[in-house]
Amino acid sequence: MIKVVKVDNATEAADKAFEVMKEYIKPGKVLGLATGSTPLGLYERMVKDHKENGTSYKEIKTFNLDEYVGLPITHPESYYAFMHRNLFDQIDIIEENTHVPSGLGEDLEAQAKHYDEMIDKDPVDIQLLGIGSDGHIAFNEPGTPFDSGTHVTDLAESTIRDNCRFFDNDMSKVPTQSVTQGIGTIMKAKNILLIATGANKAQAVKDMIEGPVDEACPASVLQKHPNVIVIVDEAAASMLK
Ligand code: PGA
Repeated sequence: MIKVVKVDNATEAADKAFEVMKEYIKPGKVLGLATGSTPLGLYERMVKDHKENGTSYKEIKTFNLDEYVGLPITHPESYYAFMHRNLFDQIDIIEENTHVPSGLGEDLEAQAKHYDEMIDKDPVDIQLLGIGSDGHIAFNEPGTPFDSGTHVTDLAESTIRDNCRFFDNDMSKVPTQSVTQGIGTIMKAKNILLIATGANKAQAVKDMIEGPVDEACPASVLQKHPNVIVIVDEAAASMLK
């Protein structure tokens, strides 16, 4: 079931997301984390709360959704680097307790399987998600089977276009493949918190919430999850009934 929370703008979306997330920043919890522009406001609030209130992450584990294939972790746009820059290096989390899938190595499919096994051992209490303009969640593009586990996949052309702003606006510099948690992996999380802001997400938000549950819109699978909160700003909610 999807609970929709409408707010005015991206700042309010980050405030509301932090309010939800705060309940899970407790010893023993497992957080599912995401990259992209959308979670940045939430991460800023988590860092501020850690610095001002001493909220500790020492007994928290994290699993990220995805990573580009072939990008060294030292590349500033690798999701490993993104997470360290925007969150991990600014809080007291223990490096061994953080997990970002690796897009480097001899046998990416075997590594992906191992990633799912780690998640099965430490089930995610709350998974943070953004949504792509094509309805993707993580890098699960339209057509990805709903029962998929972590796997290697090609990025849709629309996603390469959306993400080229991080690569000098040059589509040829955007990696073409990623390792991503599958839709089945994401659906195992006990709770899901999806944030969508901006007009370019309006159609995907409508399809996710009001459309049929169909692999053509990966996010529509969330209608089948028992516990989802979707925070949308006015622009992203503009096509909802
Ligand atoms: P964005 O990406 O937060 O950068 O808009 C969201 C997504 O593609 O899942």
